[in-house]
Amino acid sequence: MRKTLMMLSLFAATLFSSPVQAQKPGTFEAGEGTFLLNGQPFVVKAAEVHYPRIPKQYWDHRLKMCKALGMNTVCIYIFWNIHEQKEGQFDWSGNNDVAEFCRLAQKNGMYVIVRPGPYVCAEWEMGGLPWWLLKKKDIKLRERDPYFMERVKIFETEVGKQLAPLTIQNGGPIIMVQVENEYGSYGVDKPYVSEIRDCLRSVGFDKVALFQCDWASNFLNNGLDDLVWTMNFGTGANIDEQFRKLKEVRPNSPLMCSEFWSGWFDKWGGKHETRSAEAMVSGLKEMLSKNISFSLYMTHGGTSFGHWAGANSPGFAPDVTSYDYDAPINEYGQTTDKYFELRNMLQSFSDKKLPAVPKAMPIITVPAFEFKEYAPLFENLPAAIKSEQIKTMEEFDQGWGSIMYSTTLPKIDGQSKLRIEKGHDYVQVFMDGKYIGALDRRNGDKDLVLPSARKGCRLDILVEAMGRINFGRAIKDFKGIEGTVDLTINIDGNDFTAQMKNWKNYLFPDTYEYCKQQVYKPLASIQPRHNGDRVPGYYRATFDLKKTGDTFLNFETFGKGLVYVNGYALGRIWEIGPQQTLYCPGCWLKKGKNEVIVMDIIGPNEAKSEGLGKPIIDKLQQSEPPIHRLEGQNLDLSGEKVAQAGAFKAGNGWQEVKFTAPQTGRYVCLEALNNHNGDEYACIAELYLLDENGERLSREPWRISYADSEDIVTGNRAGDKIYDLQESTFWSTVKGVKFPHQIVIDLGKERTVTALQYLPRMESNVPGAIKDYKIYVKKEAFKY
Ligand code: GLA
Ligand code: CA
Repeated sequence: MRKTLMMLSLFAATLFSSPVQAQKPGTFEAGEGTFLLNGQPFVVKAAEVHYPRIPKQYWDHRLKMCKALGMNTVCIYIFWNIHEQKEGQFDWSGNNDVAEFCRLAQKNGMYVIVRPGPYVCAEWEMGGLPWWLLKKKDIKLRERDPYFMERVKIFETEVGKQLAPLTIQNGGPIIMVQVENEYGSYGVDKPYVSEIRDCLRSVGFDKVALFQCDWASNFLNNGLDDLVWTMNFGTGANIDEQFRKLKEVRPNSPLMCSEFWSGWFDKWGGKHETRSAEAMVSGLKEMLSKNISFSLYMTHGGTSFGHWAGANSPGFAPDVTSYDYDAPINEYGQTTDKYFELRNMLQSFSDKKLPAVPKAMPIITVPAFEFKEYAPLFENLPAAIKSEQIKTMEEFDQGWGSIMYSTTLPKIDGQSKLRIEKGHDYVQVFMDGKYIGALDRRNGDKDLVLPSARKGCRLDILVEAMGRINFGRAIKDFKGIEGTVDLTINIDGNDFTAQMKNWKNYLFPDTYEYCKQQVYKPLASIQPRHNGDRVPGYYRATFDLKKTGDTFLNFETFGKGLVYVNGYALGRIWEIGPQQTLYCPGCWLKKGKNEVIVMDIIGPNEAKSEGLGKPIIDKLQQSEPPIHRLEGQNLDLSGEKVAQAGAFKAGNGWQEVKFTAPQTGRYVCLEALNNHNGDEYACIAELYLLDENGERLSREPWRISYADSEDIVTGNRAGDKIYDLQESTFWSTVKGVKFPHQIVIDLGKERTVTALQYLPRMESNVPGAIKDYKIYVKKEAFKY
């Protein structure tokens, strides 16, 4: 018996490396009120997983984990920019071999839903669009711009070559293909979405079912008559409410939640996000009991290795490297409590016993080691390229990494002011090699005060690019410095401003090959350094292993940058957290000597690391807490004029309040006096203000100046969640803090506002649904 089993597994191993046997062609389509698989009613239970976020060696393991969880399908995006990193050069090999991923899913008895974009969002660099599109400066992304559409067609043709043979009609596992992605949160443009649909049909997806995903609040804006419509929403949402509109307009449509968010992503400097297992499981259970199909986003999030993590917007909120997502299968492929709770529930909806949970990948620890070599950045400058005007990184034909702009200053007595309107993303300024200060795009920093300068003083502006914005209109996100750099000098009480010119530009690509070829020298001391004398540059260490396994390299004492292990780009680090360790897959380590290079743009406090047995993804190390109220700060509304007062309605969904008179100001305070539930909470999921023409104000320049209470204990429910363009995230006050509650928005500049749009929380009992409110609008800041 034992022997037969061994033989069988040997046989399976051989099968595994050979091409899949073509299966019989089948069908998948939208029937009356249900999907039909080969003519039979079928409920899709899909696990969203992203092949570039998992090392190829682990694909099979993660697919088996999804299968053992009770899923029958996997749902994947295709990430255009990882396949076409240089215009016209496609890479579908190795970790990019998505066709192999689909075949592997099929071998594991799973169907596949493919979402080939071209835009995918996914907290991925530029939402999956290649940065080089920006070399055409006036390009219109995700619109019928001729160049954009030409490149989309070339890309989708390649996708078709890879995946069209794998549709169910051809005997493959692919049952559905998605057209674009949540276009409703970008614009209203049916002609564009139709062109994407036609393009996908023309590249071989002409028989497979095509669908569109969007939100219940906006899917009709771009919904095409001949496509299946599915809804995206998160854990906790009122499910009947989410499908109400769809049932109205298409009473016989099968229902599917194409992204049910199991957790959420983290941003640098923000509290680690979690979502309750109970709410996730009960939502999925409710859907299954109503025969509603779903895809659980993410079932296994994995890691945004290298520079592939994106950034959220409005504002600029770069995402961390870990894409753990608080998903049932954690970042490194292991089970969680959520996994088992979900598995129990899914078992009850399956007539067969679920397969056993695969064994976890081994974990190792690596004893502390020091970085004994370094190559200081300023001693390793590449050849300079001269330019009169400031140029973006894209204009120098570089997509990622850093750039330094250098020029000389005249003699300046006393302080002067440097203004960089658009420094993307982390700007450090040096005078004669001495660190002066930093401008952080996350905080909207633009100005820096410079000390006196000697004649001929060298001014260096070092700009590090983080991930390009992946959501909303701001995805057209140039790196380096866009626009101008201005210097204001005060002479005899008068300000003189001049645009700075004549730059020497130094480019620092973020490839391993580039980092490796720097001139390293011994690093004598690992003594803690003071902030002023941290040395930006490349740091190299080695460590020896007797056996390999997954580990979590700790970079708590480093500044900010990117890490490479044995040539693999592990991802970005930043001391502010919440992520402090990087997941290092065991399959990228080797017995014997392993090499670590850190490109640290700030410089470490101590150049050391170690491999931990557990990740640290929930540790903030920054002076300001991730909330919007200073200690002891109290908003004083006494004597302030109420601009508008009233009561919001109870229940889910958007509401609009027209002001009795237009109001002009920069600071807007919404004061909540009580709620509809009779308890102490105030919550807001999204909030817009309308201008004199009834148009929504851009929330790009918004910042939260104050919130009386913010819950960062049960997750991340800080004030900035009211304008993050995500209907499932919300600001919530903390338990025990009583009404009234206030939130103050800084609009960035004076604006006239005529109305407010408000979205309460998505849950059916609408926690924190504000009832009576007062609104204050002021030109100058509020008193505290
Ligand atoms: C949307 C997008 C996804 C992802 C999630 C948030 O639903 O479609 O790509 O960005 O939001 O994780
Ligand atoms: Ca929100």
